[in-house]
Amino acid sequence: MTQPAFPSDFLWGAATSAYQIEGSPLADGAGPSIWHRFVRTPGLVKDGDTGDVACDHYRRMEADVQLMRELGLKAYRFSIAWARVLPQGRGAVNPGGLAFYERLVDTLLANGIQPMATLYHWDLPAALDDRGGWLNPDVADWFADYARLVFRKLDDRIKLWATLNEPWVVTDGGYLHGALAPGHRNRFEAPIASHNLLRAHGAAVRAYRAEGKHQVGLVVNIEPKYPATQSAADLAATARADAYMNRQYLDPVFLGRYPDEMREVFGEAWPEWPAEDFQLIGEPIDFLGINYYTRSVTRHDEVNWPVRASAVKQPGATYTETGWEVFPQGLTDTLVWARDRYGAIPQYVTENGAAFFDPPTAEDGQVDDPLRVNYLRKHIAAIAQARAQGVDLRGYFAWSLLDNMEWSLGYSKRFGLVHVDFATQQRTPKHSARYYAGVIARNGAAE
Ligand code: BGC
Repeated sequence: MTQPAFPSDFLWGAATSAYQIEGSPLADGAGPSIWHRFVRTPGLVKDGDTGDVACDHYRRMEADVQLMRELGLKAYRFSIAWARVLPQGRGAVNPGGLAFYERLVDTLLANGIQPMATLYHWDLPAALDDRGGWLNPDVADWFADYARLVFRKLDDRIKLWATLNEPWVVTDGGYLHGALAPGHRNRFEAPIASHNLLRAHGAAVRAYRAEGKHQVGLVVNIEPKYPATQSAADLAATARADAYMNRQYLDPVFLGRYPDEMREVFGEAWPEWPAEDFQLIGEPIDFLGINYYTRSVTRHDEVNWPVRASAVKQPGATYTETGWEVFPQGLTDTLVWARDRYGAIPQYVTENGAAFFDPPTAEDGQVDDPLRVNYLRKHIAAIAQARAQGVDLRGYFAWSLLDNMEWSLGYSKRFGLVHVDFATQQRTPKHSARYYAGVIARNGAAE
């Protein structure tokens, strides 16, 4: 008999985030977030789309949990909208906002689904942005106060907590290139935002140690960088790209310092950081969440600011609708790399998935998405491979449960296992959802 690849308590799940699915952004006393403002600035989001309705999950939560149950999900990763809980980001609590997440968690548990909550998935309260947002050093305390409040309310029912989702995207999109809220484009701001995100993470972990009894971790996106050639220029470009995207957050958390290449990337915009900050940033965490979508084959590119590196297209490879190469081996490599570099901390794949063009729903209610089925099959084989190499991987969350608001791409890109008709809010599980339900039922064994 072959050894089963996955233990019986392996968490097979799906992930979403608040702004991308909930809709009703100001309901029940919630405050606006930076996304509420960003989508209202003409030209920033494709087709002028907004998250005002999204998947209407705020009002359809019970039915969506039933859908999760039908798929056999063991776990569900969602995010909590800070401005629902604290409409001004700090100060007065909004019980209506907290009540929504309590109901969600209770409904999940009643259906045998384990919740994993992310405290920050990009939707900073607008009132805090007015005070400088992630550029204001006080944001670490604001975040810790918010975290403490939520831990006190929900740690009796939530056993897995993530502080931040993808700090790299928050700064690269929000403060360096401006494609995401709050839409700044400033090389001097980006390192400050990154550092304050890390301090906020550390402050929330400290708050958890005082308040919580379960597990807290950090979720980062990792895109492994492979050199296009062995030339010195390409190797150096690959190291810069890897430092900027992959090591910028994990090195401080696990190794107590930033990668040396950060200074090369940011030049005069890279400050000296107070040594004591690294104590806070390095607060031990219980697990590492990794979001993996693609890799990059990297070459030196003088004009691609500020990293001076760019990706080389791979002939013959499959690319998703967001232009990302399908490269399952990169997931195995990433999980093994994280273990080798940062130690044997438990890991979760907290997001993995792909946008493909899904044909219109057939009359018989079928959505045939063979490319996504193939993507899932190969990436699940890749996590089995990582486990075989000794990685302590405890769960896998497909991105995403539902087609949703893909940030500045609006509704033009569909990542869901479940198709959403945004005119009627009709949900239709795609073939990939059925496939994934089978994976879960077999606990990951190959068909
Ligand atoms: C984010 C999601 C996003 C997905 C696909 C991840 O970086 O966490 O919010 O929808 O990628 O772009």
